[in-house]
Amino acid sequence: MTDQLIARRDFAVAASVSWWRDAVIYQIYPRSFADANGDGIGDLPGIRSRLPYLRELGIDAVWLSPFYASPQADAGYDVADYRTVDPVFGTLADAEGLIGDAHDLGLRVIVDLVPNHSSDQHEWFRRAIAEGPGSPFRERYHFRPGRGADGELPPNDWPSIFGGPAWTRAANPDGSPGEWYLHLFAPEQPDFNWDHPAVADEFRTILRFWLDLGVDGFRIDVAHGLVKAQGLPDLGVETQWHLLDVGVSPCFDRDGVHDIYRSWRRILDEYPGERIAVAEAWAPTLERVAAYVRPDELHQAFNFSYLGTAWNAAEQRRMIDASLAAMRAVGAPATWTLSNHDVVRHTTRLLQAGEGEDGEVAGRRPTEVDPAAGLRRARAASLLLLALPGAAYLYQGEELGLPEVVDLPPEVRQDPAFHRATGQDGYRDGCRVPIPWHGDRAPYGFGPEGGPSWLPQPESWARLSVAAQQGEPGSTLSLYRAALAVRRSHPGLGAVDDLRWVEAGEGVLAFDRDGFRCTVNMSAEPVRIARPGDVLLASGPTEADPDTVVLPPDTTVWWNV
Ligand code: NOJ
Ligand code: CA
Repeated sequence: MTDQLIARRDFAVAASVSWWRDAVIYQIYPRSFADANGDGIGDLPGIRSRLPYLRELGIDAVWLSPFYASPQADAGYDVADYRTVDPVFGTLADAEGLIGDAHDLGLRVIVDLVPNHSSDQHEWFRRAIAEGPGSPFRERYHFRPGRGADGELPPNDWPSIFGGPAWTRAANPDGSPGEWYLHLFAPEQPDFNWDHPAVADEFRTILRFWLDLGVDGFRIDVAHGLVKAQGLPDLGVETQWHLLDVGVSPCFDRDGVHDIYRSWRRILDEYPGERIAVAEAWAPTLERVAAYVRPDELHQAFNFSYLGTAWNAAEQRRMIDASLAAMRAVGAPATWTLSNHDVVRHTTRLLQAGEGEDGEVAGRRPTEVDPAAGLRRARAASLLLLALPGAAYLYQGEELGLPEVVDLPPEVRQDPAFHRATGQDGYRDGCRVPIPWHGDRAPYGFGPEGGPSWLPQPESWARLSVAAQQGEPGSTLSLYRAALAVRRSHPGLGAVDDLRWVEAGEGVLAFDRDGFRCTVNMSAEPVRIARPGDVLLASGPTEADPDTVVLPPDTTVWWNV
């Protein structure tokens, strides 16, 4: 980046634009980020100690996956108490301290909200079970008698995302088999009944609790799942992954969810500083996703359609256009993500065959790819992502170029779907392996020297640690830092939805924004292009003469034009 470019920074424009419209939001998976007390599980004090690293990286906000009181049946997405920090992660005072420290460093904090289901250890569910049929607490969940002569069959045919039926039969207080309860995920995650006013009231109170504590927003887990069709009719398909085939599903993306988000938006808007919400909403089309971010609803929705798009210039262009158009229609920014805690890391995934089939993104067994080729492609993809108009979501460790860990032994795996014969494949642990910070031996600074880590880290990660990459000109960490610095300072890389395609030949994606061009060679051959301006940044080595530049395959270049 040149000094000239820094001088062109336009603070007035930056200040007038809502912070979230072009924010770079970094996902922290607390159990795998930094372990301060040495028990092998990352924690809030660990995160606090690493905030300066994130500040230096150049992100705008962090999103923390759940750290609330939880039996950890689904790594914290099974919440037993929404207002308490799980002792494994720390205390409420640690959460407050973290929010305060982050704000002091100019970083915003987004927390995860899990409103579709609670833990089976949530007080309401425990009372529902303990009090038996007729308990008013059963009305806050979905309890039903079974089908069949003795109620031995589940009430409907809904499968759980994690495999097996979405119903578990509860025992009556006397131990005899009783009613069934609904869980779209693990049996330890009973679904709330959002038709019950106490559920809606409770979540409004939870929102205020965290807003009062100073959080800047929420990531809404399973935002498309809260409302179920009246009568819980049969689905008629084999797995939840066929959601996209059935069009209108009785369990997902019901129109009724939007009333909930309108009421939440009113609460968010009561607080100063533009508090936001981002939806994890797996809807059948981008238009259905856009409905979650209409002006009186949530602010952003994850773009899983983009995440699942193959590394192919025509496909990418089509999906980028479709994403921008869908969000433009409702006045919301597009969002872009390549990795999170549920999918194969993009360093590995973008080289695997068969990508691009929606619904299979999280459901494919990862395989080893050539590490150098995987990294080259991931770096090119990340530079493309960071050049697109809208908000970018990064997942911890992608700035280090971490690959998916594909060879975790079965006995260490903790994904609740792993041991189930059907449903989501259960291979999500491979993207959750703790971050390497420094040193030659595991846990590489994730925790104290010689200490444990809840998942084993590969030996090869010594050279991928933060310390190994810090200040190294060609490292992936240096690339991300430089990219985020350019993104902040270049006037063309703001929130404005101004992308204009440039024809650049088969397999090459090129677009202009104000004073800026991004060129990506997605073909298998090097391409020679006329130099459109000065190189700002390149994801890999290029060859240049005064008039032309050769981009090897899987290379992205940013230009000042
Ligand atoms: C989506 C979360 O990202 C995932 O990790 C979790 O298993 C499910 N929702 C259920 O809460
Ligand atoms: Ca710990």
